[in-house]
Amino acid sequence: MTDQLSPRIRPRRLRATPTMRRLVSETRLHPAELVLPMFVREGAHAPVPITSMPGVVQHSLDSFRRALADAAEAGIGGVMLFGVPEHKDAIGSGATDPDGILNVATRAAVQEVGDALVVQTDLCLDEFTDHGHCGVLDSGGTVDNDATLLRYRDMALAQAESGSQLLGLSGMMDGQVAAVREILDAEHFTDTAILAYSAKFASAFYGPFREAVQSSLAGDRLSYQIDPGNRREGLRESVLDTIEGADIVMVKPAMSYLDVLARTAAESYIPVWAYQVSGEYSMIEAAAANGWIDRRRAISESVVSIRRAGADAVLTYWAVELASWLREERNA
Ligand code: PBG
Repeated sequence: MTDQLSPRIRPRRLRATPTMRRLVSETRLHPAELVLPMFVREGAHAPVPITSMPGVVQHSLDSFRRALADAAEAGIGGVMLFGVPEHKDAIGSGATDPDGILNVATRAAVQEVGDALVVQTDLCLDEFTDHGHCGVLDSGGTVDNDATLLRYRDMALAQAESGSQLLGLSGMMDGQVAAVREILDAEHFTDTAILAYSAKFASAFYGPFREAVQSSLAGDRLSYQIDPGNRREGLRESVLDTIEGADIVMVKPAMSYLDVLARTAAESYIPVWAYQVSGEYSMIEAAAANGWIDRRRAISESVVSIRRAGADAVLTYWAVELASWLREERNA
């Protein structure tokens, strides 16, 4: 019997000093792989705070331009734009109107920062429909997949014409990637890329986003978004979107779906992104505001874990702040 145990293998050696920890770090964040989702509100004269997402606003066109300049200055990879229209109708006319808020905002963004950032747009009808669904409805009130594809094609053209460089197809209609790719190519927008929200789950974590875009949705999206328990189905959607011509696939939400993300990342031969959604943002902000967690560490850890699981880039509402911390750390 000895009075001391002496393990031969000591993983702690590699954790002993800051320099050693830095050297063996497996996952590093870089501003270039962060994308900032932004909301632009039609008719707003000043930014309007989103109560359920402290720190995030619905921009006026002026505040939007300033925020874009900050985003470019921070060196992030891109911005994902959402429009909040003043008027909604059954078919989401505002989405295809060249003077609709999202298309106006897109032109402003391209003009302002089009060389510094990849300007991306949400391609979905829910912000523009009075019933709040991601597509148009049939006479029985259910979302009509194929009629919606026609609307998405028009929306894709309106966005491409406005200068969007990457269309974020988030509506979860069958065949949407193929339908949009075909019309883009036919109209010579062959260089406009498609980000397919492939594994998009029917999640409670989109809750705060519904306030952000003033969604009028009364029911749910269970007939088009994926059941949270279904990993295979997430993989299937990514494969289908890849075959249909997507340039990038995405898993959404992020933190509760890291297994889906890891499997998709392991099997995909095109880039795989993840969207850290509004509810993920708000939970951390709320806990931090209560003093229950260390805000900065929790934010960094959450995004690192999404990258570690395999995301090549991350959509996060903290993109600009995180980028400023990364710069600070690099200069330290
Ligand atoms: C659909 C869309 C949604 C989000 C992004 N695109 C909402 C939904 O599917 O209900 C959610 C993003 C977030 O929660 O941050 N246009």
